[in-house]
Amino acid sequence: MRIIRICSIFVIVLMIMQGIQSDPQAEELLRQCSNSNTTNDLSIFLNNFNKTFNGMRKQLSYGHFATAYYTDVFGLVQCRNYLSIKDCVACFEAGLEQIKRDCPQADGAHLIYQGCFLRFDY
Ligand SMILES: *[C@@H]1O[C@H](CO)[C@@H](O)[C@H](O)[C@H]1NC(C)=O
Ligand SMILES: *[C@@H]1O[C@H](CO)[C@@H](O)[C@H](O)[C@H]1NC(C)=O
Repeated sequence: MRIIRICSIFVIVLMIMQGIQSDPQAEELLRQCSNSNTTNDLSIFLNNFNKTFNGMRKQLSYGHFATAYYTDVFGLVQCRNYLSIKDCVACFEAGLEQIKRDCPQADGAHLIYQGCFLRFDY
């Protein structure tokens, strides 16, 4: 019984430490949307945009760098090496959401966060 109690305290402390250490560092340092919007059919553009970003997301499960290219949409993401894979993916997701929100239909964007760098070009 005592050993179980000690173990569960240990696990709780570990979980708290994880919580403190986990930080995707998605503070924005710079954001730039391209000055021009895509002239292509929007649904085709968004479809390729999705494929490129989905391709990058997959690569991030085993590294801090990813690049993908799908039918005219080129993308790149780089996380700082000290981020965990989980935080790197979270930084990427935050950046992707911001690009979709702030640069809708733009034919390119780049975004620098404390923890990661994201760009795409058309
Ligand atoms: C691009 O399209 C978005 C959404 O329609 C619009 O808000 C923005 O002003 C456009 N930007 C340019 C450079 O035309
Ligand atoms: C792109 O992906 C988002 C979410 O992942 C989805 O809501 C949207 O319908 C997709 N768009 C296209 C054109 O595939």
